[in-house]
Amino acid sequence: MEMPLLEVPFLSLKAVNARYATELKAAAARVIDSGWYVLGEELAAFEREFAGYCGVRHAIGVGNGLDALALLLRGYIELGRLAEGDEVLVPGNTFIASFLAVTGNRLVAVPVEPDAATFNIDPSGVAAAIGPRTRAVMAVHLYGQLADMAALRALADQHGLLLLEDAAQAHGAACDGRRAGAFGDAAGFSFFPAKNLGALGDAGAITTDDDALAQCVTALRNYGSETKYHHRFRGINSRLDEMQAALLRVKLKYLDEDTRLRRRVAARYRGGIDHPQIALPAVAREEAHAWHLFVLRCRRRDALQDHLRAHGIHTQVHYPLPPHRQPAYAGLLDAQLPLTERLHREVLSLPIGPTLSEADVERVIAACQAFGSAA
Ligand SMILES: Cc1ncc(COP(=O)(O)O)c(C=O)c1O
Repeated sequence: MEMPLLEVPFLSLKAVNARYATELKAAAARVIDSGWYVLGEELAAFEREFAGYCGVRHAIGVGNGLDALALLLRGYIELGRLAEGDEVLVPGNTFIASFLAVTGNRLVAVPVEPDAATFNIDPSGVAAAIGPRTRAVMAVHLYGQLADMAALRALADQHGLLLLEDAAQAHGAACDGRRAGAFGDAAGFSFFPAKNLGALGDAGAITTDDDALAQCVTALRNYGSETKYHHRFRGINSRLDEMQAALLRVKLKYLDEDTRLRRRVAARYRGGIDHPQIALPAVAREEAHAWHLFVLRCRRRDALQDHLRAHGIHTQVHYPLPPHRQPAYAGLLDAQLPLTERLHREVLSLPIGPTLSEADVERVIAACQAFGSAA
């Protein structure tokens, strides 16, 4: 009789949250008993704590990561720093939310090719793409690794552009003591459950040192209102609720420890996988990578994914199709982005997370090493 195959999940959210179950349940009970569920003390406390963690003056909790990005752009429109038709440079290889935030505000998303080694937006491509309508650059810290913010800051300052961060995948990634969310004029975070700092539902935040922007987006997320029933802007309803704020306060305390565990898995993969057909991810600086995802490249990606699946190992593709090739942008974005498209054919994400066991890591390494040899 064949032994049942031991599965290595891509990420077990149940296991991730089980570690804090007692504290999470106590936090939930606190909210239930408080009788106050939206825009209360838990949110105010989380905003203070997350701003402190990122090293910025303001964190504004919103409903999700897409809203965080969309509202910070909308805030700059209300403040007169951006206007309809302005161009925002974005990496071609990103999750579609980075694009949706731009185009949803009637701004123009101009995709830029990534750096082949780090997968992050290439500053020389940004320099080449800056034109008369360019007003902002949105860097995405893809897979958890900081984009080259020093080079992008220099370009933004030289050309009078806003520098924005899509930090949805990079909570805690740092460079020279500064954390993701503190490099740009403003940043958007997602706390989607699978993120490094994940809520138990949808949630997001904007971080910024810009007092005027903070005030504006605080109103925009709440029907454009600063005083109840008085509406300065045509805002939306996108608030991080008390329950998610209380749960996030628990998980924020453990974020650095989780990042350490992720780095350990990444170090094991990087030390243990050595295969002529597999290109491991390049790391500019250790602390600059929060390892939201461990993404390798392989020309026979689909075959590798099938091979790992046959060994019980669950992988994912981030992402199978770039935004400019999605039906949603048919006829709108006809960019030629050969490197972006090649990456989408070759990338594969291995399981990584703070609860992946040593034995599972070893199994993933052994299965990768066995790729291409007879089964
Ligand atoms: C790079 C990036 N930007 C934005 C988002 C949007 O975040 P959310 O799912 O919370 O809307 C995500 C995650 O889903 C993301 O990975």
